[in-house]
Amino acid sequence: MPEDAQNRFEATRPHPARVYDCLLDGKDNYPVDQEVADELARRWPEIRLGTQENRAWMHRVVRRLAGEQGVRQFLDIGTGIPTSPNLHEIAQDIAPAARVVYVDNDPVVLAHAQALLTPVSAAGTTSYVQADLRDPAAVLASEEVRSTLDFSKPIGLTLVAIMHFLEDAEDPYDVVATLVDALPTGSYVALSHACGDAAPASAAEAAVFYRERGVSAPVVPRSVAGIERFFDGLELLDPGVVPVNRWDEDPERRLDEDVWFFGGLGRKHRTS
Ligand SMILES: C[S@@+](CC[C@H](N)C(=O)[O-])C[C@H]1O[C@@H](n2cnc3c(N)ncnc32)[C@H](O)[C@@H]1O
Repeated sequence: MPEDAQNRFEATRPHPARVYDCLLDGKDNYPVDQEVADELARRWPEIRLGTQENRAWMHRVVRRLAGEQGVRQFLDIGTGIPTSPNLHEIAQDIAPAARVVYVDNDPVVLAHAQALLTPVSAAGTTSYVQADLRDPAAVLASEEVRSTLDFSKPIGLTLVAIMHFLEDAEDPYDVVATLVDALPTGSYVALSHACGDAAPASAAEAAVFYRERGVSAPVVPRSVAGIERFFDGLELLDPGVVPVNRWDEDPERRLDEDVWFFGGLGRKHRTS
């Protein structure tokens, strides 16, 4: 399809990364995406809060990794449309020489990737890979990953709100295990995921609408145990897999209710 026609097509069809951007109150979206986000929120009012809490959790977990844990390199898979502060802005604010590789398979994210490629400090490095998580070996072998990250030093692997896009038939646990195998000892895995145990009935109704509207591959919520399984072979750090708003709870964002995104942080102790 010629580029103009492709652009018109993209502007008339709701797009998952842009719908997510709407839920974060971002500006990189079209009316068609806003319409879907509004309808999702009408059916399931907590969806905006859950999305925003998930993003705030990413900020906290990266602060903890770059701060207390001293991590200086990050591999962020499923980056999404840039929303400041992005991961590298948080990490490089704490550790100016932090190196960050972003990975996403969505051409819409690629089109906005420039905002991810400007390090906030002269000493820092960022790069972007257009690749699919379902082929983790290709992600690991990419030129950007190999030239940006030093696999002899700890890496923070961040899988924030992405694993629920992989269905069971796509071997999500094997995908994570392949990535973890490649990480050196002392690395960390931060993962958040839509949790079926926590979602209200209205969430299922919103999911049906999302699928019918043809926005993307369906989201596959998993149970708490199903999310904990991603940390097999890792030390799951306190407080375990919990609603993201309860993880290192930010007093400024204290909520009465839990959200439906659960997250956890694991540490790798041995090379498997
Ligand atoms: C819900 S957004 C999360 C964005 C960001 N991590 C956050 O939590 O704010 C999920 C992102 O994962 C990306 N994604 C989904 N499936 C993917 C796959 N198989 N490979 C790479 N990226 C994928 C989507 O394109 C989207 O940008």
